[in-house]
Amino acid sequence: MLALGIETSCDETSCAVVNKREVISNVTLSSLKFHKKYGGIIPEIATRNHLKVIDRVYQRALKEAKVFLNDIDLIGVTVKPGLVGALIVGMNFAKGLALAKKKPFLGVNHLYAHLFAPFLNTSQKIPLPFIGLVVSGGHTELFLVKDFDIIESIGKTRDDAAGEVFDKVARVFGLGYPGGVYIDRLFDHRVKDYFKFKCGRIGLDFSFSGIKTALIYKKMELEKKSSFNEDIKIKLLSSFQESVVKTIVENLTLATERFKIKSVVCGGGVIANKRLRELLNLEAVKNNWRLYLPASNFSLDNGAMVAGLTSYLYTKRKRSSSFKIEVSSLSM
Ligand code: KG4
Ligand code: ZN
Repeated sequence: MLALGIETSCDETSCAVVNKREVISNVTLSSLKFHKKYGGIIPEIATRNHLKVIDRVYQRALKEAKVFLNDIDLIGVTVKPGLVGALIVGMNFAKGLALAKKKPFLGVNHLYAHLFAPFLNTSQKIPLPFIGLVVSGGHTELFLVKDFDIIESIGKTRDDAAGEVFDKVARVFGLGYPGGVYIDRLFDHRVKDYFKFKCGRIGLDFSFSGIKTALIYKKMELEKKSSFNEDIKIKLLSSFQESVVKTIVENLTLATERFKIKSVVCGGGVIANKRLRELLNLEAVKNNWRLYLPASNFSLDNGAMVAGLTSYLYTKRKRSSSFKIEVSSLSM
């Protein structure tokens, strides 16, 4: 079964052709360079760019897969959560194709698609139930996943998402966008505990806005004393990153204990972080988890995870979404 997956929830326009879980093509164009000077994604720019490039990205995905639209059995698209204008572009494009060719059509949740990413290009059994962890630019959330359509949110950030905090901090430190990538690169193990920063944890919920403020104030204080330099910058950012990733792993461990589940599936852009991956692997060994991480090319937003999840859900339910389905900025 060939599924076409379309993803436009943020700055990436991505289309993919997937045969069940095997990725045949995955074409992504990002509008990132147009947002860089603002230090964050500007919804209006993202939306206009999706509109400009979506047909090209779709044509290339079909071409690389060496198929025509007639060969596609099923069309899936991200409908939530995300930037509303951006989502509308992808959803209407997908609806148009599905209506024109009378193909089954499914609207899927972007966060759940991130959790499907580790299973792309593998034939391993999906370990249900599992604890899902999504850490991205817009979300930091823990899920109890009984199946991909029986999902309960069990903990989330009460303020900023982890990726958002990486991006905001990077901007204050004059690094590039997306900030997580730059902080990941600067991270130095030897000074990861130099400063004592703390993130908030309330049950299984997170809070990251406090650490952001604490870090910015510390930087200002050091600058006033003229003791801010390249070396201190690395110490500050390494200590900050260590606290963020440790907090994420601590809450994840708590969730696995609370629900007595040993299978853990992770997804989202921040999961590309090297130190976070290292801590997750260490924790998995310590607690005997079966840990599933996405391949690095599938941790960031992509159409393949949308196509994979679409195929999985359609095979299970054997029914399309109604064409009345609408987009939403919210997850639920
Ligand atoms: O999942 P994603 O591509 O888009 C959303 O759904 O939000 O995640 C983007 C986020 C950005 O905030 C970016 O800074 C972060 O992922 N990110 C990273 C790394 N690569 C991307 N954060 C930490 N370390 C990384 N290596
Ligand atoms: Zn995402």
